[in-house]
Parts: sequence; C-alpha cells; structure tokens
Amino acid sequence: MYLHKNLADTNQHPYRIDIAKAEGIYVVDTSGKKYIDFISGISVSNLGHRHPKVVAAIKEQLDRYMHVMVFGEFYQEPQINLAKKLASVLPENLNTTYFVNSGTEANEAALKLAKRYTGRSKIISCKGAYHGNTHGSMSVSYNETKKNTFQTLVTKRSFYRIQQ
Ligand SMILES: Cc1ncc(COP(=O)(O)O)c(C=O)c1O
Repeated sequence: MYLHKNLADTNQHPYRIDIAKAEGIYVVDTSGKKYIDFISGISVSNLGHRHPKVVAAIKEQLDRYMHVMVFGEFYQEPQINLAKKLASVLPENLNTTYFVNSGTEANEAALKLAKRYTGRSKIISCKGAYHGNTHGSMSVSYNETKKNTFQTLVTKRSFYRIQQ
C-alpha cells in the first residue's frame, strides 16, 4: 500500500520507513523493526532522539507559548539565553546570533550578510560544496545535475568557484 501518496518525494529512492517511535540512538518503525539511526535528523537530534532534558525544555516552553513572532519583534527568553550562551563561547566580536530553521536558511543569511556588509555582489564557492536546496544556496552548490531542473538559478556570473 502506498501510504505516502500525499507527501512530496525529495529524492528518487526514499527509505520509506514509517516511524512509530524514536528514542536515543534508535528509531522504530510501525512494524516494530528497530534501527540504529546514524543520521540523527541530520544532526538535529544530536543528543539522541527525545533526550529527556530536551523534551522537558520543549514542554516547559510549550506551556508558556508556542510560535509567537519572528524577525526579532518579540523577545523570547529561551532564544535570549541561547544567544547569550553562544556569545560566551565565541570570540568577543561574534556576539550576535540570527536564528534560522535550517542549514540552507543559514547559508542564505550568510550570502545576504556578505553582500550587505561588503557592498559587493560576487560570491566564491568551492567545487564539490553542498549548501542546501533553496535558490541561493543551491546556486553556490556544486552538483550541476541536481541544479539543471531549476536553471536559471542565481546568475552564474555573480559567483566564482574555487577548487577545494
Ligand atoms: C554542509 C551542508 N550545508 C547545508 C545543508 C542544508 O541544510 P538543511 O538541509 O538544514 O537546509 C546541509 C544539509 O545536509 C549540509 O550538509
């Protein structure tokens, strides 16, 4: 039975594992089969699935609020605390955090920040690099086959590649 017909496939050979539960290093499918998860949500669950401290922190926040507002309009204590902790372990001049939801958004932000800060428009990227699936990040990524369907991306003349 094709249970996933309403979900978009993002590659040609998805694992198609129906997850019933995830805990620590394991994910368990709906038939009870247990897998060691070496991917860990591409490191999002890097403390193990459903780490009790992470679950407790999420529950604590949910009891106060869930989504309120982005773009720095509303200050939320957990964000402030995390930004403070990051600043405490980074060099002194790296004291500001812009929170995003994904790697590709982080790279979009980095591309824009570089342009804004320098006033320049050309970007250097490395051969073999992967930066994500949004327009700008994909433009500076290397895999031409993956990119073909979406051409024209951010114009090729505005970035250069260097050998890694
Ligand atoms: C090196 C690198 N950059 C960017 C990304 C994109 O991150 P995301 O999938 O969270 O958008 C990935 C994701 O695998 C990555 O490995």
